[in-house]
Amino acid sequence: MELEMDKLVSLCKRRGFVFPSSEVYGGINGFWDYGPLGVELKRNIKDAWWRDNVQSRDDVVGLDCSIIMNPKVWEASGHLGGFSDPMVDCRATKERYRADQLYVFAYVFPAVNPKGEPTEAWLAGLGGSPEEAAGGPEKRAAKLAKKFGQPTAPPTIIPFMQLSVEDREKVIGPSTDERGTLTEPRSFNLMFKTFVGALENDSNVAYLRPETAQGIFANFKNVVDTARVKLPFGIAQVGKSFRNEINPRNFTFRSREFEQMEIEFFCRPEEAVEWYGYWRKARFDWYTGLGLRSDRLRMRDHDAEELAFYSKATADIEYAFPFGVSELEGIAHRGDYDLSQHMKFSGKDLSYFDEEKKERLVPHVVEPSAGADRATLAFLCEAYVEDEVGGESRTVLKFHPRLAPIKAAVFPLVKRDGMPEKAEAIYKELRKSHNVYYDEKGAIGRRYRRQDEAGTPFCITVDSETMTDDTVTFRDRDSCRQWRVPAAGAAQALRDLLEGGEIPGGES
Ligand code: GAP
Repeated sequence: MELEMDKLVSLCKRRGFVFPSSEVYGGINGFWDYGPLGVELKRNIKDAWWRDNVQSRDDVVGLDCSIIMNPKVWEASGHLGGFSDPMVDCRATKERYRADQLYVFAYVFPAVNPKGEPTEAWLAGLGGSPEEAAGGPEKRAAKLAKKFGQPTAPPTIIPFMQLSVEDREKVIGPSTDERGTLTEPRSFNLMFKTFVGALENDSNVAYLRPETAQGIFANFKNVVDTARVKLPFGIAQVGKSFRNEINPRNFTFRSREFEQMEIEFFCRPEEAVEWYGYWRKARFDWYTGLGLRSDRLRMRDHDAEELAFYSKATADIEYAFPFGVSELEGIAHRGDYDLSQHMKFSGKDLSYFDEEKKERLVPHVVEPSAGADRATLAFLCEAYVEDEVGGESRTVLKFHPRLAPIKAAVFPLVKRDGMPEKAEAIYKELRKSHNVYYDEKGAIGRRYRRQDEAGTPFCITVDSETMTDDTVTFRDRDSCRQWRVPAAGAAQALRDLLEGGEIPGGES
């Protein structure tokens, strides 16, 4: 089944996973809110990341630093000077585009003009790749074909940035019919600016952090002095980052406010390449372990030209989203660039003394940098399934139990004969250790469907048999199989299932 993005977006809205931010006022482009189910899902992803990458390891410690920092941090990191995207404005529509996401589709039609030349149309489309950008130009070319005849050949596709200044004048922007309305690309810094204190003057300018990583470098010495860490070790941080993206798009994929989950892993220079290989694999396996199918995940190594001058290797973990294969996480070998820059700009010694080797050095860094919102989107895309149960179609989110927002729902089959009281007692017991849900409204089939759409792995029903033999019905979301469990053992049975226990045979 090919997932259509519109269906997922509408499920997310309908079931309270993700809403457009401040929607009552018409929303604001690039900002999203997580509803009751979404906040649980995203929190479970961040918790799984923290548990697996920090708490269950001896060599990674955590950090939570402020979003606004001394602006010198951003001078040192290079974000003030270099963190910019080339942008292009359309003079006709006043829209703004990222120049590196504009592709020009040059069509030639058979109709000739008074000079006897064939008609040309250079139609711009917007997207992360030519495939993604093709839709708009194709539709417009089909319209032009009615007037000028079918194009003589498939279009030549040229990235806008590669056109000469003269050729750019020929381009028809993505949402106008006029030629030559696109401006030359200009640099646009992605950091959100604000003022600290009462006066809005240059000396009070500060920035919302565009990544969590720099807070880690700025605290390197504090952590070394207080946490008794020894190389190799990592510092991890999860938190909000902000980028004034020119074209926020593809739902939450490219947002202006988002959360990152980053590790800066410090090691001896001669061990950095080995640690890079370790994290490259460990991070890929983390996603597959939580249910992303490995054939939708891809490791893309950067070419030598893509690498920063200080880096020996960088790779992106990419996921095949419905809108194309796009980056989920980057793993970068960053050498000693960041610590050296902060030493230079702060004037402080951020070197490390290796007790064993009796040597002072500036550690090298391997950085696995993930996005919590992108991971949430990937897990949502992966989980979305439409199937048939008993001849009826259903939508189900097949989340890994660790990530599922609700772990189990408890139902009385009917609202009488003591079933609600019994079901509520089981619900209250389970609530002590899990996020569970109680529902007594509507037909049982509908209640199952609602939980399938929420991605709840197990439903527990109190029925007439419960009242005689004190057993309850467990139902598995994915197979719809049902089996009976003693009511007193429901909590333990749920715990076992959530920890990967086998689903017993039973009716489906
Ligand atoms: N410290 C390195 C760094 O920030 P990045 O590739 O710019 O590297 C890392 O960002 C991750 O943060 C990305 O792989 C992505 O998951 C997430 N991310 C970056 N920009 C984002 C945006 N505009 N919206 C949502 N997530 C974003």
